[in-house]
Amino acid sequence: MGAEQVVARCRELARISEEEGRLTRWFAGPAMARANALVGRWMAEAGMAVRTDAAGNLVGRQPGSDADAGTLLLGSHLDTVRDAGAFDGPLGVIAATECVARLRAEEVSLPFSVDVLGFGDEEGLRFGTAYLGSRAVAGTLDRATLNTADDDGVTVGEALAAFGPGEASRRGERLLGYVELHIEQGPVLEQRDAPVAVVTAIAGATRAEVRFTGRAGHAGTVPMELRRDAACALADFVLAVEVAGRSQPGLVATVGRLAALPGAPNVIPGEAVASLDVRHADDAARNAAVAALRERAAAIAAARGLELAWEERMATPAVAMDPGLSELLAAAVAARGAPDVRLPSGAGHDAVALSELTATAMLFVRCAGGVSHHPDESVDSADVAVALDVLDGFLRRLAER
Ligand code: GLV
Ligand code: MN
Ligand code: MN
Repeated sequence: MGAEQVVARCRELARISEEEGRLTRWFAGPAMARANALVGRWMAEAGMAVRTDAAGNLVGRQPGSDADAGTLLLGSHLDTVRDAGAFDGPLGVIAATECVARLRAEEVSLPFSVDVLGFGDEEGLRFGTAYLGSRAVAGTLDRATLNTADDDGVTVGEALAAFGPGEASRRGERLLGYVELHIEQGPVLEQRDAPVAVVTAIAGATRAEVRFTGRAGHAGTVPMELRRDAACALADFVLAVEVAGRSQPGLVATVGRLAALPGAPNVIPGEAVASLDVRHADDAARNAAVAALRERAAAIAAARGLELAWEERMATPAVAMDPGLSELLAAAVAARGAPDVRLPSGAGHDAVALSELTATAMLFVRCAGGVSHHPDESVDSADVAVALDVLDGFLRRLAER
């Protein structure tokens, strides 16, 4: 057991996919069920009681010695982006499981219970709305989200119904916090020559689906000046998003998914759809950028005689991590002899959703080249060994607090 096994397990889990030849695991699909079964087996081997909650999240529980001491939540997500790497999400779940196993092997019993959570949706691949698993646990899934449909017209509510009745929400419980270990997904730790960092805050994000509707027609017969081509409007919009993202420091804006419909070489696209993802550490700056892009989209549509539909799929504010839990993590980093690096996160994490439920903190682990959301994602097991020691030290410090 140890860091090398944690890395090997992440790679083993990465073989479970919805798509041949690349790692893609979306919310509530067959691959997710197989991933939960495999990670659940590892949790059970670590001595935990394992269940899947009503939102499809995997939960491993290690009871504490004091029934009144409450529960600490650990974990991350088990879903992935399309053509993903092996570590974004699973590292946090598998490392937490390893920490529980290590405490058991050393016959250390903590006063509080530890629940290791493997969230079923953090990336939002299937529904375009992220954090479904962690929002269910936080008790913040709203009606609009439950009615959001995937490409086949299945709603979030219908997908959740497959997991049976019951409550995933942990609201009202005595919780000590949520701590998430995650790869950095950026290059700063490599630059600083440090294995881990304590996260200070997570940037806010808005996601929307943007749809232009014109009129489909024959590519050979409809003269150019009579067309209402939705793909041309979408092209204008994509470039406007890039211009917006470059217009101020700290703002990032991305169109990651595009479709021209009905999608045939000899049909003028009557409809065109894009995903939009906008992020900034400052909420006002992000909201202003989103509002400006929406106006721009409306102007593009009007100029071409098209209709615009703008559906906001998600908006999360920037979230600060809990100072108390973060200082305990920092103390464990110092005790391990690693440099004290503090970093904000440009990427979103389940900690965003959980921060509406309980105090949250995060530990970043260096990843090779800062590469993430890519199959080349990689971590060094020596860094994972440091992260495991830090999480272990954190748990022991929390027990003494
Ligand atoms: C999750 O990886 C996100 O930041 O989109
Ligand atoms: Mn991700
Ligand atoms: Mn992630």
